[in-house]
Amino acid sequence: MVIDAFDKVRELQAIIAAGKIENKEELEAFRIQFLGTKNIIKPLFGAIRDIPNERKKEYGQLVNAVKQSAEQKFEQISKQLNSKAANEVEQIDLTAPGETIELGSRHPVSLVLNQMIEIFDRLGFTIAEDSEIEDDWHNFTALNTPEDHPARDMQDTYYIMNDPSRLLRTHTSSVQSHVMMTQEPPIRIIAPGRVYRNETISARAHCQFHQVEGLYIAEKVSFADLRQTIYYFAKEMFGSTKIRMRPSFFPFTEPSAEVDVWWGCETETDKRITKGTGWLEILGCGMVDPAVLKNCGIDSEKYSGFAFGMGVERIAMLKYQIDDIRLLFENDVRFLRQFKKTAIF
Ligand code: DAH
Repeated sequence: MVIDAFDKVRELQAIIAAGKIENKEELEAFRIQFLGTKNIIKPLFGAIRDIPNERKKEYGQLVNAVKQSAEQKFEQISKQLNSKAANEVEQIDLTAPGETIELGSRHPVSLVLNQMIEIFDRLGFTIAEDSEIEDDWHNFTALNTPEDHPARDMQDTYYIMNDPSRLLRTHTSSVQSHVMMTQEPPIRIIAPGRVYRNETISARAHCQFHQVEGLYIAEKVSFADLRQTIYYFAKEMFGSTKIRMRPSFFPFTEPSAEVDVWWGCETETDKRITKGTGWLEILGCGMVDPAVLKNCGIDSEKYSGFAFGMGVERIAMLKYQIDDIRLLFENDVRFLRQFKKTAIF
């Protein structure tokens, strides 16, 4: 019995001496175990009752020594840890390179849109904007597309619920109507913006996308001016000066054309992107129909003009060889990260 109690105390003494304490958490655990209100030394003091009288003094001294060595160890280690922390603060290497902050990237649609705006800015085009919720007149009727006109079927429209005269604009051509109604020629604007169509979403089509509309109205504007403007755009945007115009139809232009840019047809990628032709279709355009000028209060005897409209996603997909339009709307960072500091080719 006596041997047992002495042994226990000595064992504890050894544990305290040998225990390694390397951080503040371990020190706190030590404090709770040996010095806290329910510490494991306390019961050893209580055990003095069972010690024979002649050895009580010796036992008491031994337990006290254990308690003291726990206290000393606690003091000593906490001093060491505090001075270590202080040294660490002082030892910051001010010449070490800082942690890099990860920069975000511009969205490919913004990259292309900004480049398009810059190109037309150099040609003196200013930016016009208008509402994405549009009325039927500005989106269709003013642009020579009255109700029941078959061309309305070209664009599946989202109408506003309970109000068939209001809709989500199906093209940025609606901005043309606003500008012509409110400005006197000469007019030279581009209208970048979002448009909506009730289309089934697939790799090649989406229910929302962006367009850049262009409109130039002045005296004696000719098809040659349109061609030259598109030529300049294609050269700046794609580095290609070879373009071709194919006759087409739009209700608001006469004559109308679609424009292809020569991309090349050598590599497998060239073939895939151009469907084997080497040509890329980039926009629709034409001479503003005199009926449209009249609808919007512009003297069609005195003035003529050209207009064009292009899809921004389409151009982004071509430039970056993105083969699924949905990627542009999903905001997956693994996709977007690739556009950090992108050099546009
Ligand atoms: N608005 C047409 C579309 O979304 C594109 C377009 C074609 C715009 C010819 C024009 C134009 O201004 O003249 O398909």
